Amino acid sequence: MRTFAAMKRIAIFASGTGSNARRLMEYFEMHDSAQVILLVCNRAEAGVVAVAHEAGVEVLIVDRELFYTPRSITQDLHDRGIDFIVLAGFLWLIPEVLVQAYSDVMVNIHPALLPKFGGKGMYGMRVHEAVIAAGEKESGITIHYVDSKFDEGAHIAQFSCPVFPNDTASDLAMRVQELEHVHFCEVIDRLVH
Ligand code: GRF
Repeated sequence: MRTFAAMKRIAIFASGTGSNARRLMEYFEMHDSAQVILLVCNRAEAGVVAVAHEAGVEVLIVDRELFYTPRSITQDLHDRGIDFIVLAGFLWLIPEVLVQAYSDVMVNIHPALLPKFGGKGMYGMRVHEAVIAAGEKESGITIHYVDSKFDEGAHIAQFSCPVFPNDTASDLAMRVQELEHVHFCEVIDRLVH
């Protein structure tokens, strides 16, 4: 029997197409101790908003003013009893007050092997283009805790894949996304308890 009282409440922060958010929502839908209950998004037209609606997950659209008003977004999360935050394609820097409130329970996924190919402006296809331009033989994903700098929090897990000589950035993006879809939910499952 599912014991709802003990359910951990997960918020996803995402503003892209939402392929990872979709998997997380599906994975935790029938989970016995955790559930995705909120999507925080800064683009009302993002694909991930439709993903949340389909899954029956509440959507909170934020603008910069709300997001960077000290304590405001933190209060929104506390009001909903959020225990754990997953960043899956959210490009804004997380305000310090939120980092403090959710230290050790806020995690990001990055589509490269950090510390290489991370930092401000390193997102989407730019990451894969940079990996190929640097002649790397492998790339992959990094799942890490969030601090108040881009892509610098402590690493939790990394998974790698090859970069082949004739790869385009799109080829590599697909291979990396496959890794995300295979591993991300399970890593989050290990951390949420
Ligand atoms: C992923 O590649 C993730 O690593 C990065 O943002 C992307 C989100 O993709 N942080 P999607 O919207 O989940 O498809």
